Amino acid sequence: MLEKKKYDLLDEVQKSAKLVDIHYIRQKEPNGLGHAIWCARKFIGQEPFAVLLGDDIISAEKPCLRQMIEKYERYNSSIIGVQHVTDEEVSRYGIVDGRWVEDALYQINHLVEKPKRGEAPSNLAIMGRYILNPGIFDILGNQNPGAGGEIQLTDAIATFNQTEAVYAYNFEGTRYDVGEKMGFIQTTIEFALQREELRSELLRYLTRVMEREAEHAG
Ligand code: G1P
Repeated sequence: MLEKKKYDLLDEVQKSAKLVDIHYIRQKEPNGLGHAIWCARKFIGQEPFAVLLGDDIISAEKPCLRQMIEKYERYNSSIIGVQHVTDEEVSRYGIVDGRWVEDALYQINHLVEKPKRGEAPSNLAIMGRYILNPGIFDILGNQNPGAGGEIQLTDAIATFNQTEAVYAYNFEGTRYDVGEKMGFIQTTIEFALQREELRSELLRYLTRVMEREAEHAG
């Protein structure tokens, strides 16, 4: 990039490389989210930590994790990021049954991973953002497989909640699901539209596509 004088690109790559130290560990078998988190226990030690699931992208004025850290600092308790979903969607998520505490914050009574429609305790769904106290590792180490035969983080949090209160926070922002094919396409378009250098060209392209499709349909 230096030789090709692509200084803008170089700057972008260097900026993110300097931001943090990156350690990684491979989950050697597909045993579920709870197991994946447990694999990282040695990096984390005895500190509270954040979990961000890569399938869930959140666009917000104040970053979602910042909003949650503020709640964590206030309550000193584990916090799960949630948003409302429709009745049709509950079976795709971990669902929270909570008692309203203050604006957008709930103290959790119970959590269920991917309940059937009609069996969900509410429409508050876990959106791939968590701040957890390290006590969760004691539970994850002994957690039995749950939904889908996998070790579920949601189940471990439900057990943890019996000894240490866990809260759910309905954060502000728009959540995109890049784990779904349509969600991936929509997210790409939405984020591209937010970028100055792409916006007008993309809009022209989308208009051309619409016109072409209308012609074919007519
Ligand atoms: C995971 C969690 C689930 C959560 C979801 C959010 O499920 O187990 O509780 O609601 O992420 O995206 P997955 O999407 O990995 O099946």
